[in-house]
Amino acid sequence: MKLTLRVWRQQNAEAPGAMATYEVDGISQDMSFLEMLDTLNEELILGGDEPVAFDHDCREGICGACSLVINGDAHGPERTTTCQLHMRSFDDGDTIDIEPWRASAFPVVKDLVVDRSSFDRIIQAGGYISAPTGTAPDAHATPVPKPDADSAFEHAECIGCGACVAACPNGSAMLFTSAKVNHLNVLPQGAPERETRVLDMVATMDDEGFGGCTLTGECATACPKGIPLPSITAMNKEWLRATRKVRR
Ligand code: FES
Repeated sequence: MKLTLRVWRQQNAEAPGAMATYEVDGISQDMSFLEMLDTLNEELILGGDEPVAFDHDCREGICGACSLVINGDAHGPERTTTCQLHMRSFDDGDTIDIEPWRASAFPVVKDLVVDRSSFDRIIQAGGYISAPTGTAPDAHATPVPKPDADSAFEHAECIGCGACVAACPNGSAMLFTSAKVNHLNVLPQGAPERETRVLDMVATMDDEGFGGCTLTGECATACPKGIPLPSITAMNKEWLRATRKVRR
């Protein structure tokens, strides 16, 4: 395949950015999107140019590091992570626009790399439990109803990639935060911090400059792990419950 790539290049957070156009040839349909970018970078390096900076780590759809807006969609045309997107989703001769996540709470570091440490600070605000560590507890020592266990697993699938924020017209982090809150709040192990968790994580989310949620649903559509939109309404209920309890 021969492709035309229009790639966002930006030297650092303060420098102005612009799209740069590159031609790449010999791209196999079996390559991942990141392998295609590796090919571009090899050519840039061999030509004495600076390679395009982009985030990646596991390349297995697990870590959430990869983060590209491809032709206007977070993670591109398939519902998966950028690293699990393959070039068979594109046609020979295509022009592909590649941009970083766009959100004021995710400032550009360089080219396609953005700073997502705001997510880390939301996690630090409440994404933990205070259950004492030690030897493994007996099986079933703490019974968890099957629907609650399933719900916790569903929310624990969030890999914190930030596609929800990039897809949201408001730059909201409600889907991410709700996944992290609900994952622990539905479990008995998360009960001691149930109120402080949701209040502190939502407050941190607001402090970090994410936008408000208007339930447009773009976040859930872009989420590669299928975190459902009702996760947000569940967190709103938790927040209201916690607010009433703390005021009492
Ligand atoms: S590089 Fe880890 S999820 Fe894509």
